Amino acid sequence: MRAEPDGMERLPVFLRNVRIGFGGRAIQDEMTFTIEDGEFIAVLGPNGAGKTTLLKLLLGLVQPETGEVRIFGRKPRRGNPEIGYAPQFRTLDTNFAVRARDLVGFGLDGHRWGPGFPSRKRRMLVDQVLEEVRASEYADVAVGELSGGEKQRLSLAQVLIANPGLVLLDEPLASLDIASAHEIISLVGRLCVSRKVAVMLVTHDINPLLQHVNRVLYLANGRCAIGSPETVITRETLSSLYNHPVDVVEAMGKKFVLGVET
Ligand SMILES: Nc1ncnc2c1ncn2[C@@H]1O[C@H](COP(=O)(O)OP(=O)(O)O)[C@@H](O)[C@H]1O
Ligand SMILES: [Mg+2]
Repeated sequence: MRAEPDGMERLPVFLRNVRIGFGGRAIQDEMTFTIEDGEFIAVLGPNGAGKTTLLKLLLGLVQPETGEVRIFGRKPRRGNPEIGYAPQFRTLDTNFAVRARDLVGFGLDGHRWGPGFPSRKRRMLVDQVLEEVRASEYADVAVGELSGGEKQRLSLAQVLIANPGLVLLDEPLASLDIASAHEIISLVGRLCVSRKVAVMLVTHDINPLLQHVNRVLYLANGRCAIGSPETVITRETLSSLYNHPVDVVEAMGKKFVLGVET
């Protein structure tokens, strides 16, 4: 087997020639990319492009049909403590009565800090991470009473408390107003730097993220492109990806993709 270039195989994410499919139908045909420590990546693409399936691949919940996948140098495996995952459509409303701090503490369960972990230490970790996401103020409030943005902060805290090196956030901005979305995005951007955690954030609108992400990974039509927003969100790259004429219009510092569903 060919040796990887130095250190490549230890990166948060390493994919080479990966094909994902279900029952013979390819969802993604040829994925090759790496993601580095501390990188903030926006994952874009139309509904059904395979964004959620890609995250499940990294989590070991979906198997590649062909190709190589490495997470910090190892094959994906279920329950990998190196990955923090906030699934799509997760509602934190299901249990209105749970306090914010308890919800965050659940992030320790199932890890080595789970049952039997000293409650004093547990409380300290919860307090620290609440502070980090600026949610200390409502630590003792019932989750059901919080706004969407506040709940997203808790969701982040719950994922971060186990100290993952890679965080996968599936459409965390979907139900947020623009101000709350901006707060979450800048918070995630700061965490990438302060914790050196790599983040893949799935979203439909790149605009609020333009100034914050290192790169975008754009999935469409069974293929993908990765690079800076300036190189990927262009008429050339997207037309070739979609295999269909696409235009990108810039106005008021924003990018608008025309001609396809995004
Ligand atoms: N377990 C599965 N079995 C069969 N098809 C699936 C499965 N999971 C996802 N798919 C299909 O894979 C495609 C990509 O889905 P998904 O990853 O959820 O897209 P996205 O998150 O980009 O909207 C869709 O066509 C979906 O129906
Ligand atoms: Mg999805």
